[in-house]
Amino acid sequence: MSDYLIRLGGHKLAGSLVKGLGIPVPKELAREHGAWEAEPLAGETVCFSAGEGAQAAEPASAAITATGAEICAEVSEDARPRALVFDATGIETLEALDELHAFFHPRLRALAPCGRALVLARPPALAGNAVARAARRAVEGFVRSMGRELGRKGSTANMLYVDDGAESRIGPVIRFLLSKRSAFISGQALHVNASIPETAPVYEKPLAGKVALVTGSARGIGAATARALAREGAKVIVMDVPGAIDAAKAVAEETGGEALACDITADGAGATLCAYIEAHHGGIDVAVHNAGITRDKMLANMDAERWNLVLEVNLRALIRVNEALLGRVRDQGRIVCLSSIGGIAGNVGQTNYAATKAGVIGYVEGLAVSAAARGIAVNAVAPGFIETDMTAKMPMGTREFARRLSNLSQGGQPEDIAEAITFLASPGAHGVTGNILRVCGGSFIGA
Ligand code: NAI
Repeated sequence: MSDYLIRLGGHKLAGSLVKGLGIPVPKELAREHGAWEAEPLAGETVCFSAGEGAQAAEPASAAITATGAEICAEVSEDARPRALVFDATGIETLEALDELHAFFHPRLRALAPCGRALVLARPPALAGNAVARAARRAVEGFVRSMGRELGRKGSTANMLYVDDGAESRIGPVIRFLLSKRSAFISGQALHVNASIPETAPVYEKPLAGKVALVTGSARGIGAATARALAREGAKVIVMDVPGAIDAAKAVAEETGGEALACDITADGAGATLCAYIEAHHGGIDVAVHNAGITRDKMLANMDAERWNLVLEVNLRALIRVNEALLGRVRDQGRIVCLSSIGGIAGNVGQTNYAATKAGVIGYVEGLAVSAAARGIAVNAVAPGFIETDMTAKMPMGTREFARRLSNLSQGGQPEDIAEAITFLASPGAHGVTGNILRVCGGSFIGA
């Protein structure tokens, strides 16, 4: 479903009429549709600086240069940078916070439309004392607010918390967040850690030779994910309920993958999947647990059937199937589970759904620890409002309200989630495990 306000904004006459009525017209986001490129930012400039005592400046500038962008220190009206990047990993005092203002304040207006602001900092929890922890944490509030202010120009602001010793892993994350593939990610803090062994990042066809399973991929976010993973070289098992097998076959045909009918709630679904994988591929490298449903009702009106169905599909079956699959996921594999911002903030009429999506977060955080020994990264993606069949079923008023909640005043596309999942599935995501990445345009609900 497309956004009528963006469509109207694209017409000269209708666009100016709408603007004249004082209705803010969301900026159409710049997105990348083709395969990953070696130099996604070739021909662009990125304004980069590091604060006093910053410890990630070298890998950060190397990562920016590797994207093909030219690094500049200053901005001008004729050379509007694609991104503003500041290394704040040296910020340990309240006074040092002035560095954020000094860097961004004079440069922000020059940022190109659909641009990126990115800040690197040290994780607050690892600070040596309470004041340093306050200073580190302040960076996050700054970035989230900057994201709100930049949204109307289609631009985003995000940050990376970089653990001591994880500096060498920031490159692929910086590359992703500065690219057009992160168009609907704003106001987020990703945590780069050294929990799993380092692997060499691959920037073209990163999934060549890999096998990926995507549950619920006959349509919506799952189908977009199957397409994106296949585009980057993966052989994708497009799995969905038997009733959706024709649509699954169409996605498989389009992506050069395989269609598989399986209801994840069926008895022995995990064993069925394992047998299929064993027979056809020996193992898988990527598992995306995307199948999910909603059965919204106010709690006082929610019967046990609605409650159980959602708990079963979104959480119990997901965990059962994944536990069965773990033995088939190869070392250095990648597991991505679909959560939701509803699981972070809660939502009226969604006690069942929010419980499951919060449960997914708990599972991912726990599994990331136990799977680290095998080099398997485990992350969750928490979409905000995404234009799919699921959200098309929402009452019109609620749907319109949900769309405009984000910094970018619009909903995301299934492709936005697919790009985030593809990044997390890639070898270069070796610094990102145990993360909950919200792809919500900086929607204000939730932590
Ligand atoms: P969708 O309803 O368009 O697609 C879901 C797919 O899962 C369907 O093809 C369906 O047949 C399949 N499925 C359902 N039950 C299954 C089962 N028992 N076994 C196997 N497959 C099953 O949904 P959409 O919007 O693409 O969502 C995908 C995931 O993203 C879900 O987990 C959803 O909760 C999550 N999400 C979506 C958001 C949105 O705005 N669309 C927001 C937040 C989270």
